[in-house]
Amino acid sequence: MTYRTEYEQSIQDPETFWRRQAADLAWYKMPTTILSQGADGHYRWFADGELNTAYLALDYHVENGRGDQDALLYDSPVTGVKKRFTYRQLRDEVARFAGALRTLGVNKGDRVIIYMPMIPEAVVAMLACARLGAIHSVVFGGFAAHELAVRIDDARPKVLVTASCGIEIARVLPYMPIVDKALELSKAPPERVVVVARPQQSCELKAGRDCDWNALMAAAKPVDPVPVLATDPLYVLYTSGTTGKPKGVVRDNGGHAVAMKYSMKVVYDVQPGEVYWAGSDVGWVVGHSYIVYAPLIHGCATVLYEGKPVKTPDAAAFWRVISEYRVSAFFTSPTAFRAIKKEDPEAKLKAGYDVSSLKKLFLAGERLDPPTYTWLTEISGLPVLDHWWQTETGWAIVANPVGIEPMPVKSGSATLPVPGYDVCVLDSAGVPVAPGESGKICIKLPLPPGCLQTLWQDDARFRESYLAQYPGYYLTADGGYMDDDGYVFIMGRIDDVINVAGHRLSTGQIEELLGSHAAVAECAVVGVSDDLKGEVPLGLVVLKDGVSVKAEHIEKELIVLIRDQLGAIAAPRNVAVVPRLPKTRSGKILRNTIRQLSARDDVPMPATIDDPAALNEMRETLRALGLGRSR
Ligand code: COA
Ligand code: AMP
Repeated sequence: MTYRTEYEQSIQDPETFWRRQAADLAWYKMPTTILSQGADGHYRWFADGELNTAYLALDYHVENGRGDQDALLYDSPVTGVKKRFTYRQLRDEVARFAGALRTLGVNKGDRVIIYMPMIPEAVVAMLACARLGAIHSVVFGGFAAHELAVRIDDARPKVLVTASCGIEIARVLPYMPIVDKALELSKAPPERVVVVARPQQSCELKAGRDCDWNALMAAAKPVDPVPVLATDPLYVLYTSGTTGKPKGVVRDNGGHAVAMKYSMKVVYDVQPGEVYWAGSDVGWVVGHSYIVYAPLIHGCATVLYEGKPVKTPDAAAFWRVISEYRVSAFFTSPTAFRAIKKEDPEAKLKAGYDVSSLKKLFLAGERLDPPTYTWLTEISGLPVLDHWWQTETGWAIVANPVGIEPMPVKSGSATLPVPGYDVCVLDSAGVPVAPGESGKICIKLPLPPGCLQTLWQDDARFRESYLAQYPGYYLTADGGYMDDDGYVFIMGRIDDVINVAGHRLSTGQIEELLGSHAAVAECAVVGVSDDLKGEVPLGLVVLKDGVSVKAEHIEKELIVLIRDQLGAIAAPRNVAVVPRLPKTRSGKILRNTIRQLSARDDVPMPATIDDPAALNEMRETLRALGLGRSR
């Protein structure tokens, strides 16, 4: 089979194509309806199929001879702990924790928020929800109390599962004060909180609300997987949109399981039994799909790494883990490798490890810049494969289809549309552009299995954000072009979302927070380019008349405000007080022009500008921050 044949089949006859892929899974009831439209008009996959995702990820393998094979390899340089779970052990833990959740009143369709560091209990909690047909919503441990509260209020969970702390390199970050504050802020707090007490941080449990993980497990009885419909939600994962309110991406069970299985073969080219490692966090989509679900559904061992690319303890950390567990496919973000390259530019530390098990390196989450691509190719001697996707799709839209037919790599391109995705580049009128011309990257409906069903409790926002602009298409919010050979080049977001160290952040959300400060009259946040993190937020604020506090003081206060309200990962490196912001004659802040000015000095004066002097002032401000001219 060639890539072209497989791709054409998936687009010309999606039902036959995906029926074949669905047959790879052990459904309780094999679907007969492959593609249909619900009463809401949205496409649905495998509507009458019944399955359980945790069964596919665990019990199925135990029943089929993998019970004693490694399933989860936990490696935590920040605590010095390493732990292996076979498929049987992981199944038993999950079945027992599912029983524990049930005693707390969690049943099919109920929501459970998981706010945890990268410890095995996080994976167990996710799979236990799946086993019960409950819907998990994992909130990244780096988010502050306010963000946790916003997600709690949207998801309305019965239970929240957490731990006494996370560990950032050598810093212990207590979680309970954050959880307490989030529950205080929340309008619909869950009644019960399950806490994993870690030895690094003690915590007091609140009587009547908190339960200790171990005590709960000791008393719990294992439960069997609950059959769910393919279209029942498996999880809600919140991601940044253009406003302060995050979007709750809803993933189904059936389409997701089929897509996960298919992607392990086609995109990652790994075999059941091999060791697969996604160096990400369970709080992000990469962690959901490629730390937890896909490798386990495929029968691989998956690595859960609680550490950083550098400083835990050094820039050899990745090579050490690859060598120790005989990893065959490794997936991480370009930022992680840029951090390694900065500390060990000649990759001298790699020489100390036998990484011969590694066959391919996969990168995603942000643009793979050509210097990082070239460096990685040279130091690894391996195929370095970029692929492009989003929280919304849950798996790769564009990738090198190495599991079908490896295609030549073109630097700067994520390669070719993955079977199932009818990728088009449209102009602003919705007309496909010619090869080589830039436009908005869209996917012709139906989206393949695994992509979002809707936004949690907000179908109107789902339609408006993704479907309304070009009827019949899903708008990805990335711009780019396709070349004559159909290779896709992603040029960046066309909305107010920025990408910081592979993490997606909303400039609109940061602006809302800056604007909430009593001294701030108006503000703008733009992403400015950063050698390590790709982009970092820059805040520009105009103070209200009569504010007498020193600018430096307010600048510091605003950075602290973002750290406290949103989390340290979103904190701008700089917030600058400015006399005014450049605007159009109709009063719109020229954010795009400011962003361009932060990269280079010679940006032409926009024809719509109200007062050219405001732009010249901004140029000076950016120069003073070391941006613009000097770059
Ligand atoms: N919990 C709590 N805080 C967290 C956190 C978490 N899970 N993750 C990050 N933070 C904090 C950090 O401690 C840091 O806080 P500080 O400003 O008080 O020091 C802040 O958020 C920024 O962290 P980070 O963006 O990780 O930057 P860094 O300078 O500490 O580290 C890298 C730089 C390159 C090592 C780091 O960004 C990294 O590992 N990047 C790879 C990311 C990745 O793989 N993403 C995968 C997505 S596919
Ligand atoms: P997230 O939803 O957090 O996974 O972020 C998705 C966004 O990250 C995409 O819309 C892109 O803007 C960006 N992105 C992800 N992968 C790539 C890639 N390989 N190349 C360029 N941008 C990427």
